[in-house]
Amino acid sequence: MLLKDRKLIVTGGPTREWLDPVRFISNPSTGKMGRAIAEAGLGQARETVFIHGPVNLPAGDYRRIAVETTEDMLNAVLEELEDGAALVMAAAPADYGAAVITETKIKKAAETMTLELKKTPDILKAVAAKRSEGAFKDMFTAGFAAETNNTEEYALAKLKEKNLDMICLNDVSKKAFGFGSDYNELIIYSREGKRYALPPLPKSELARLVLGYINDPNFLNGQAAVDNWNKL
Ligand code: CTP
Repeated sequence: MLLKDRKLIVTGGPTREWLDPVRFISNPSTGKMGRAIAEAGLGQARETVFIHGPVNLPAGDYRRIAVETTEDMLNAVLEELEDGAALVMAAAPADYGAAVITETKIKKAAETMTLELKKTPDILKAVAAKRSEGAFKDMFTAGFAAETNNTEEYALAKLKEKNLDMICLNDVSKKAFGFGSDYNELIIYSREGKRYALPPLPKSELARLVLGYINDPNFLNGQAAVDNWNKL
């Protein structure tokens, strides 16, 4: 299915899980990769919507939905999904929140303290579960994996567990392109077993390549070093 016939749903940035009225768990994601994909989607996808956590980014000519928690992001994604949608999860949702959010400020007391956390929903897994029940036909789902070790193994496990069409691996141990950078270096793995090693590129260019692949699975041939990871 061509991208021009799809609704493109992109997520970006972190989410925020409150512990008490003045503190939260989050991460340094800035949403730049998600925004670059939303920008690249303009004029290419039938419609583009950018669902993001707390970020500080200029507005674009696409619809934006601001959310706070991982559960809010899940609900916004489910609300926007439709048959044929392309979902690109570039967000870094917080994986754990407080088991109990206290209504009043947690006071400083003992020298050490322990917080009980509970898992937030895994958005891609929730979408995969809906798809296996027959919802959202002809969807395309893409994930990102920021890994520090066993990078390929973890990325491939996520591709499978989250039932993705593609996963973009970002080896964050290299530290060349930290959070907030305008550049990144990605290796893309496809459901069909292809591995595309891309050179370091601006996020805007990476966004163009990711969307090019969604539009046409042969698009990355010739743009990247290609292997068949099934045979590695
Ligand atoms: N993701 C998601 N829901 C979450 C956490 C992550 O849908 N609660 C998505 C991310 O947007 C990304 C992919 O899953 O596209 C992989 O995210 P990552 O943080 O690398 O992996 P996790 O599944 O959270 O696993 P871990 O933190 O153990 O590496």
